[in-house]
Amino acid sequence: MNEHDSERIAGLLTAGGMVPTEELGDAEVVVFNTCAIRENADNRLYGQLGHLRPLKQRNPRMRIVVAGCLAQKDQGRILQRAPWVDVVVGTHAIGSLLDLVRLAEREGPQMDVREYTEVFPSALPAVRGDRHRAWVSVSVGCDNRCTFCIVPLVRGPQRSRAIGDVLAEVQGLAGQGVVEVTLLGQNVNTYGRDITVPGSSRRPLFADLLRAVNEVEGIRRIRFTSPHPAHFTDDVIAAMAESENVCEHIHFPLQSGSDRVLHLMNRSYRQARYLAWVLRIREAIPEVAFSTDIIVGFPGETEGDFRETLRVVEEARFDSAYTFQYSPRPGTRAAGLEDQVPKEVVQERFDRLVALQEGISLERNRALQGRTVEVLVEGEGRKGGAQGRTRSNKVVHFEGEPRPGEFLDVTVTGAHPHHLDARDARPARSVTVDREPAAAAS
Ligand code: 5AD
Ligand code: SF4
Repeated sequence: MNEHDSERIAGLLTAGGMVPTEELGDAEVVVFNTCAIRENADNRLYGQLGHLRPLKQRNPRMRIVVAGCLAQKDQGRILQRAPWVDVVVGTHAIGSLLDLVRLAEREGPQMDVREYTEVFPSALPAVRGDRHRAWVSVSVGCDNRCTFCIVPLVRGPQRSRAIGDVLAEVQGLAGQGVVEVTLLGQNVNTYGRDITVPGSSRRPLFADLLRAVNEVEGIRRIRFTSPHPAHFTDDVIAAMAESENVCEHIHFPLQSGSDRVLHLMNRSYRQARYLAWVLRIREAIPEVAFSTDIIVGFPGETEGDFRETLRVVEEARFDSAYTFQYSPRPGTRAAGLEDQVPKEVVQERFDRLVALQEGISLERNRALQGRTVEVLVEGEGRKGGAQGRTRSNKVVHFEGEPRPGEFLDVTVTGAHPHHLDARDARPARSVTVDREPAAAAS
């Protein structure tokens, strides 16, 4: 979400006639688009602002903007702590960023931390890092209250975008050569709860949206992030299974495997239900890859609770996991809980979890050895050659010309925890699901 906002900020500045500069000290506008999800993002902002202060003294034309979730969270405190900042612009006010910069030139520091989104970021101009893949926001904000999470406090309640607007954007993107879209929302599968289908009293469903985007010509890959397991209903599974352009990859945030901790986190599902969903989804979409988010060291987490998390990780066999050490966020319920877990204990558990998951990721990737997979080329590989991504969201390195946007079939030759090696790149056939070599020959 933050990256998507950054593309819009760059788009606004470019539309306003600005060009990127190589030298930070020469810049007339410097924007920090901030994240507040964990504490280290906080610390980094104030460090960076300190670094800019002498540069601004040497270049008085420089205007410094702090945007995003930290701006929404800290508001006026940013101007108190760093009075050389010119503009503070919250999560709902990105559209006015450029006007605020111009106003600040005449009238001094400006702040807009309004509580309500009028313009979806996706409706603003964008400068994309990638010409073939794009984010499309379908909703902003979140109505859940996971006790560790600051998002509802800085992004507000959920607001869904009209299906027609989402489709118009996806069609426009397809017209510009985009072949892959990622539908974006804090809680994508509760999409539509807060709006109605035009001309009726019916609420649109996330499954309807998936099916509609699946029909857009030119879009060959559809992803979405993030769903909440509790709202991953059968109709979403069916829509995924039926829609050939929806990729076989689900990000399915677990957070914890312990029922007691899930309760403390205010996550409504429990271990057994989570694992049952994983099974059900695998039955409906056999090639599906799962990724997840896990927090280690939530307040009060015992060794026994942590072992429950390991147990779920063993059983679910995720293809990959984003693992986080719990970070208390001001204003959230968990930050006020007693029983914060000592840092060394968190680190030790974290290392065990990462080691377990790396082994499982490797095993999942090894199962693809010898198989043909379709990749969408992203660019150059880190060690030369090309890099692409499978429908199941695995990074693949292979030899050949990196031509971004091209669909190729490759044969997997090597597996690592975080990527695959492959060879024999050739134009992709129209069947796009990862498949057995035998099936590919028939
Ligand atoms: N501490 C650590 N991790 C967090 N996340 C959200 N809030 C916190 C926090 N306070 C993680 C969750 C979420 C991901 C985006 O970030 O796992 O799914
Ligand atoms: Fe945060 Fe996601 Fe929970 Fe919403 S559903 S409160 S964004 S973790």
